Amino acid sequence: MTAQSLSTTIPVVTQAGIRWSVKASFTAYIEKMRDGNITVFDGAIRLDDGSFFFPVQKEAAVQNSGSGTDGGLRFAGAVQFTGHGGMLALILEGLEITGEGDQSILSIADAYSPEGRLPFMTLGERESTSDGHAFVYSSPTLTEEGADLYFENYRPGTEFDALTLSIDPS
Ligand code: HEM
Repeated sequence: MTAQSLSTTIPVVTQAGIRWSVKASFTAYIEKMRDGNITVFDGAIRLDDGSFFFPVQKEAAVQNSGSGTDGGLRFAGAVQFTGHGGMLALILEGLEITGEGDQSILSIADAYSPEGRLPFMTLGERESTSDGHAFVYSSPTLTEEGADLYFENYRPGTEFDALTLSIDPS
């Protein structure tokens, strides 16, 4: 495996952003491939527990920006998964959370989608952490469009790992 070594950075808990391991069985699948690679760039980092951190892009808040974390937050950074001699190549970048409650969606940048954006996960309801500094979406599920990116290896509705949205404590 050639996956890059994990960041030794202390987990960023005071910075606003998304912390997400995506789907542990998928990262394990990539990492056990001989040519499998997981690369982070443009501000995303990989934490010691294998999860990814995408910092919030405050200046790029989209719709509903007035309501803080309720919707319209965009995140910097990208994670690329590659393997199988280049036949597998998936990039998660331009993450954006829009909508509220069970209508919350995590979308990603996608050049082949209308308006360059693909709805990736239905996030569902979120719960606030006890310290009030984060929200946890405990069971994001894959959209139909997201399932297309996996070439049907995961069906629409497949549950991914819990996603934590940290909010700026200040
Ligand atoms: C040469 C092309 C490919 C081959 C030979 C291949 C082979 C395999 C094999 C053998 C498994 C089962 C692995 C296991 O259970 O440990 C698997 C699972 C999987 N493959 Fe591929 N694959 C290919 C292309 C792709 C592509 C293009 C994608 C798109 C992202 C993909 C996504 C997946 C996913 C999501 C799984 C399930 C991982 C999990 O256990 O959660 N594969 N593939």
